[in-house]
Order: sequence, then C-alpha cells, then structure tokens
Amino acid sequence: MILLRSLDWAILLDWASLLLRWTHVIAGIAWIGSSFYFIALDASLRPNARLDPRVSGDAWQVHGGGFYQIQKYMVAPEFLPGHLTWFKWEAYSTWIFGFALLVTTYYANPALYLLDASVSSIEPLDAVPLALFSLVLGWIAYDQLCKSPIGDNTARLAFTGFALLTLITFGFCHIFSGRGAFLQVGALVGSIMVGNVFFIIMPNQRKTIAELIAGREPNPAWGKQAKQRSVHNNYLTLPVVFVMLSNHYSFTYQTRWNWLILTCIFVSSFMIRHYFNTMHTGAEPDWRLWPAAAVPIAGAALITLAGTYAPPSAAGEKPASFAEIRSIIDQRCHTCHAVHPTFAAFSDPPKGVMFDTPAQIRLYAKPIYEQAVKTHTMPLNNLTEITDTERGAIGSWFKAGAKLN
Ligand code: HEC
Repeated sequence: MILLRSLDWAILLDWASLLLRWTHVIAGIAWIGSSFYFIALDASLRPNARLDPRVSGDAWQVHGGGFYQIQKYMVAPEFLPGHLTWFKWEAYSTWIFGFALLVTTYYANPALYLLDASVSSIEPLDAVPLALFSLVLGWIAYDQLCKSPIGDNTARLAFTGFALLTLITFGFCHIFSGRGAFLQVGALVGSIMVGNVFFIIMPNQRKTIAELIAGREPNPAWGKQAKQRSVHNNYLTLPVVFVMLSNHYSFTYQTRWNWLILTCIFVSSFMIRHYFNTMHTGAEPDWRLWPAAAVPIAGAALITLAGTYAPPSAAGEKPASFAEIRSIIDQRCHTCHAVHPTFAAFSDPPKGVMFDTPAQIRLYAKPIYEQAVKTHTMPLNNLTEITDTERGAIGSWFKAGAKLN
C-alpha cells in the first residue's frame, strides 16, 4: 500500500499523452499519404478509348514487384462490386486523437499553453469556450463560402479563403499565446479538412451509391463537389504539418509578428503543393514556383530576426555575475525546472530541463538565453513575472561567456 502510494502515478498520464500523440501522428501520416496518393493518381489518369465509356481515364503504376492498372469511373460504374474500400478512418482518427490531445494539453491547462498575459487579458474561462466555438464557426464559414457563388470560381474562392484565414490567424495571435494561436489555427484548418470528409465527401459518395443501387443515374454534381473539397484538403496539408511542428520552435510563434510568419508559410506551402500537383498531371511544372515559394519563407525568417527581443542594453555596464543569475533563475525558473518542481502542474521538470546546480545552469546557458532573452518563451506565460531588467542581466551574463563566477 505504502509502496503504491509512493509511486509517481503522474507518469501514467504522461504515457497517455505520449500514446495519444503517437496515434495522432500515425493516423495523420496515413491520411496525408492517401490524400497525396489520390490527388497524384487523379492527375495522372489518361483517357483510354479501349475502356468502358464510363471510365474517364486509367493510370499504370509499378510498386512492390507488380503492376497496377487503375481506372476511374467518373460518376460511377454500371454495377458496384461486392467490396469497396472507403477512405475515411484515417481522417476521423487523426481528428479524434488530435482533438483529445488539444483538450488535454491546451484546453485543460489554458493558463500554461493557451494564454499569455502579455498578449491579451482574456480569462481562461472565456478563452476555452471561445477556442472551441471558433472551430465550429470556422467550419460553417468555410462551408458556406464554398457553397456561395464565390465557390464557383476557384481563383476567387482561393483568394477569399486565404484572406479569411489570414484574418483568423491575426485574430488568434492577438487573443491566445503565440503557441496556442498557432495550434488553434492548425486545429481549425484540420477540423475543416475533416469536416470536408465527414459532411461532404462521405455523404456525397453514399448518395451516389444509393442512387446506383436504386438503378438511377447519380448526380455528377456530388462527385464534383467531393473532388473540390478533397483538392482543398490536399493544399492544406503542408501548413497544418508546419503548425504541428512549430511548437518545438519558439522563434516562429514567440515573436511580435507571428501571424505574419504563419501567413508566409501558408503562401509558400500552397505554391509547393501546386508545383507537385501540376507535375503529377504529366505537364511541365512551373519551376519558378520554387524561387517564388522561397520568398515568403525568407520573409518569415527575416521577420523572426526583426521580431526577436533585443536584450535591454547594458552598454558599458559590467555583465551580471553568476550569483545574480542564480538568484534570478531560482526565483523565476526553478519552480518548474527542478528535480521536484514546486509548480503544481508539473511532477517532473519540463523537457527534463533542471536548474538545480550551477553546472546545470551553465550547461543550459544557451537555451536559457534563447528562451528567456531572445524570445520571451520562458518563463512559461511569464507566470513567475520576470522583469525586463532580469532578462537583460541574463543576456549580459550569457554574452560575457556564461561564467560561473
Ligand atoms: C511555469 C513553469 C515554467 C517556468 C516558471 C519556466 N519554465 Fe521553462 N519550460 C516550461 C515548460 C512547460 C517547458 C516545455 C515547453 C514545451 O513543451 O515545449 C519548458 C521548457 C524550457 C526549456 C527547453 C526548451 C526547449 O524547447 O527545449 C528551457 C531552456 C527553459 N524552459 C528555460 C526556462 C528558463 C530560463 C526559465 C526562467 C527564466 C523558465 N524556463 C521558467 C515551464 C516553465
């Protein structure tokens, strides 16, 4: 009994979180993989007069030691085979596990990851419902936009959709913490993608099949709409993956113009996706898309450069001594970064980063400088209220060689 009570049960929660993340990523790989595959397959179909007139084209592929001949029936074949493979669980499970992760990491600890007092003064109790509501509202707005007359023209739809996305990104970055805002944009776009599968693509396919079984000609508009949404999903994959990785790179979200960085990434990734989608049709893709896509990425890099916080300068002053640094770190960082953190939300030091001894502080000098001075990622959400002067002191200590005396 005593033994059971002395165990650190919180580690099981960490395991649960790891398993959720693992499953989410695996499902996401399966989903994105099939999205890439089918868009490329569709683009590579060639008309073939020798086939059933209902077949719009076929494609030949070689993989795994054999040859495949794939034919696409544009509306539907005359008879349905007994077995038909559907593609939906990759999408659904990516969303289900991702949403569980979002709730357990961000919505359950809004003060830690979703909010930042230096961005807005929204209360956790308002922020979480707002974040949830924005996912629903985002889907409705996008869906209505596609169904409106704007949706009939691809260029107009792309432009309006992009403008809306930029506006939402800007809004989120001014309500939530940088990290929370980025993830919220990713969750919104990911939810739209799953909404496309759940509310449009699947029902349209079911309607088509029901008509076929009833011996009627299915409406070709259903297939066209499903195809439009699956193309949208394809273009949205790259930025969503970027967002999911970005929380490991605080320089992307923890800067003054973080919304602009994400917008640049969206522009670049659409161009890169477009290059590949054109290439798969067999047409000569426009190589100029690569230098064009590099421009927003370079822009994003420059923005991080300009947006990092210049440490308050202490020109001519003596760099801070280690004793001063130790006292700042004890006050502002050690509650979380210790073998046994005293901060209630953590049972272990986050990311294994501990500042218990001078040697540990010395070891982490560069990350300390990056997290607390160059970007204001740490202290997390500035929960321990570090001052700019203290950040400046850490900066001067680091620049003078991070000495232990
Ligand atoms: C309220 C708790 C808390 C406080 C206070 C805090 N940190 Fe952190 N720190 C965290 C968490 C949580 C993470 C892990 C973030 C993540 O998941 O990316 C972290 C991660 C880090 C990392 C590793 C970053 C990486 O990406 O590898 C460093 C370095 C760091 N903190 C330095 C500091 C410094 C320096 C201070 C004080 C100025 C500080 N932290 C104060 C919670 C805290």
